[in-house]
Amino acid sequence: MRALALLLIPSVALAQRPAASPARVVPLKPFAPPAWAVPSAPIPVGAAPRPDSTVWHHVAGSPRAYTMQQIGNAFDIPDWFPDAHPPAPKSVLYGTRPTGRACGYCHLPNGAGRPENATLAGLPAAYTIAQMRAFRDSSRKSASKDWPTNSMHAVAAGVTDDDVREAAAYFERLALTRRNRIVETTRVPVTRVETMLAVKEGEGTEPIAGRLIEVPDELSRHAMRDPTVRYTTYVPPGTLARGRRVATQGPAGIATACSTCHGPDLLGMAGTPPLAGRSPAGMLRQLVSFRTGARADSASVVMRPIVNALTVDDMAAVSAYLGSLPPQRGAKH
Ligand code: HEC
Ligand code: HEC
Repeated sequence: MRALALLLIPSVALAQRPAASPARVVPLKPFAPPAWAVPSAPIPVGAAPRPDSTVWHHVAGSPRAYTMQQIGNAFDIPDWFPDAHPPAPKSVLYGTRPTGRACGYCHLPNGAGRPENATLAGLPAAYTIAQMRAFRDSSRKSASKDWPTNSMHAVAAGVTDDDVREAAAYFERLALTRRNRIVETTRVPVTRVETMLAVKEGEGTEPIAGRLIEVPDELSRHAMRDPTVRYTTYVPPGTLARGRRVATQGPAGIATACSTCHGPDLLGMAGTPPLAGRSPAGMLRQLVSFRTGARADSASVVMRPIVNALTVDDMAAVSAYLGSLPPQRGAKH
């Protein structure tokens, strides 16, 4: 296992290099992800209702109040708990007009992120910088035509390299807190697509039918960009045990544990992102993206043999298991 890691680790450093030559890249096997693995709906275009600018909103425990118009301002973002994170750089709180929207608008000022984007807290700065390069050259794209990953293309094109370095260094210092409760169950609330999934109030429950369903516990707090809102990830019974097997033994035919590259407690290493305690729906979407080739930046080729050997059920299971692990980043903070 170590030998394989040593063989593969040099390609991890590829983050800095141009795309690997096609001859060396493992071809992807055909794969059509089911809709639940990449829930998405077209982003509404045209006249959205103007957000309210008169009603002040509050979230529990925050000293601040914002109107919905302020909450929707990507160039001066809501920061509900300013004392809960170190002073954030301009790129995180204010961004650069016209397209370099503030990182904290989507990823939140403490880097907790939301299931439809990504956690940035605790990501190695080199990895963040490499992903920004991949968004800029479009080698990392959306897993579905409607998914907002492509919004990162405009952001990446609209900020300077110094802004990226500053933001990456800021997020690397932050400790990730786990916000997902993972529940094994046979029935789930009926959901609708709202960029990510949300509970359809008053519609009761339905069979889980093999899916991974992740929803905010309170949609209004999610919509207000409250970093303390929690999420629930529903998976079928037996999923966590299956995920643990995939993570520790590696996918069938590839006896390489995820920790070989993602670090002993799955907390990441130089060039590889941490996986423990992150959003299962977000990680599932990444595995699908590697598998369909939507994520095709040079460093991503390392994940190809892994995802080629995983079924979508394995992907969901390993994502749920990884999401259930403690992020244990506190010591670094
Ligand atoms: C308009 C919303 C939005 C803004 C603003 C935004 N991001 Fe993102 N970001 C996203 C989405 C959506 C994804 C992709 C999720 C996916 O690939 O499934 C993403 C993904 C990322 C990733 C990949 C993380 C990973 O684990 O692979 C990084 C790194 C990142 N963003 C950094 C930044 C930085 C730095 C800024 C500010 C300069 C920023 N983002 C601003 C929406 C945004
Ligand atoms: C041979 C090394 C290697 C192994 C083994 C490996 N990974 Fe990865 N993984 C990587 C690298 C490198 C990246 C970053 C790719 C990039 O920069 O595009 C990555 C990225 C990821 C991401 C994207 C995270 C994010 O922040 O967007 C997920 C999810 C992931 N791996 C899951 C897994 C799982 C699950 C396993 C075990 C079944 C696994 N990996 C095994 C090297 C590896």
